[in-house]
Amino acid sequence: MNKTIIVTGGAGFIGSNFVLAWIKQGLGTVVNLDKLTYAGNLENLASVQHDSHHVFVHGDIGDQSLVSKLLSVHKPCAVVNLAAESHVDRSIHGPEDFIQTNMVGTFHLLESVRAYWSQLDSKEQKAFRFLHVSTDEVYGSLGKEDAPFTETTSYAPNSPYSASKAASDHLVRAYHHTYGLPTLTTNCSNNYGPYHFPEKLIPLVIHNALTGKSLPIYGNGQQIRDWLYVEDHCAAIRRVLEVGKVGEVYNVGGWNEQPNIEVVRTLCRKLDQKSPRADGKSYADQITFVKDRPGHDQRYAIDATKIANELGWKPAETFETGIEKTVNWYLENQDWVTNITSGEYRNWVQTHYSERGEELA
Ligand code: NAD
Ligand code: TYD
Repeated sequence: MNKTIIVTGGAGFIGSNFVLAWIKQGLGTVVNLDKLTYAGNLENLASVQHDSHHVFVHGDIGDQSLVSKLLSVHKPCAVVNLAAESHVDRSIHGPEDFIQTNMVGTFHLLESVRAYWSQLDSKEQKAFRFLHVSTDEVYGSLGKEDAPFTETTSYAPNSPYSASKAASDHLVRAYHHTYGLPTLTTNCSNNYGPYHFPEKLIPLVIHNALTGKSLPIYGNGQQIRDWLYVEDHCAAIRRVLEVGKVGEVYNVGGWNEQPNIEVVRTLCRKLDQKSPRADGKSYADQITFVKDRPGHDQRYAIDATKIANELGWKPAETFETGIEKTVNWYLENQDWVTNITSGEYRNWVQTHYSERGEELA
């Protein structure tokens, strides 16, 4: 296979991992459309900056004239939509950008793609895919004993972020059902790994530990998430793109549920071994319980049986091996962290954590 695809949001966390792996594996040319919000970082893509198989385009998925032009010039066989506002806490502080990009932006993207797809010949139409990357958060919150989310679990989004993602999922579904657009949707659990912006739990904790700051745990730390190594998520997206059944939804997860406090303790243990504190104490001493997130979902869990049985995808990493790679990556890429935590990042940390009684800036 040597084909051109358009990836949106390819300068973000998952997007950059996806683009790097696609090019490394020689799968074809990627046209990478990214608005470069605070979460987009061209440094993630430094290794493919001069690669002829990577075409970076600075722009918005909601810009229909730009997207239509990219489609007609590059004639992609697929669009993989990763562009989004993605941080729950930011969606609580200011939901508007989430509505604009995740809902309105996805709508405009779908319109551009539908116009392009409609004028392809029937063979090209059949081969074309629009793959929409979504989240398990659209399914809402589980109790301790509830069965994990399957593809038929009802949507019950609880945050402005998950509501905006749910809306985009519904639009994608409607474009398949109504117009026949060959769509695929993936709903994945929490990712972790290289290039993860340090406002999310795992990279925030690594960064704060190493810089002597407190490790803020919302509420009692007993909220449960399923964690998947980002390269496994990228492999799942490739698999769905390749052999997924048009119009279908696939849940993607790591079979790895953990309470937040356990994740943080594991990170502290790893850091104690690899980069011990000068005073010989454990990083766990920096753990601080802070005011909870409003509407905090208690538990997410994914049943990834469908993608395993129908498409043969399973995660390659366990949490143990994935977190080892992640901690090593952050220790080896402190310059990346230093660059990304200057500027806007400081304002966010100052505003968000001072409301929780912590001064982290
Ligand atoms: P991210 O915030 O790290 O990156 C998002 C990227 O999208 C950034 O590069 C940003 O500049 C770009 N972007 C934002 N608005 C845009 C717009 N209007 N037009 C073009 N580009 C725009 O997010 P991520 O963690 O990499 O998540 C990628 C996708 O995967 C999102 O759709 C998210 O909902 C989904 N997802 C994330 C996780 C996770 O744990 N991170 C889990 C499941 C699903
Ligand atoms: P996060 O990485 O923001 O992902 P999401 O909210 O999409 O699951 O948070 C993961 C979990 O960690 C979530 O339950 C909130 C919690 N959390 C903290 O306890 N402290 C923090 O400082 C952050 C950022 C998150």
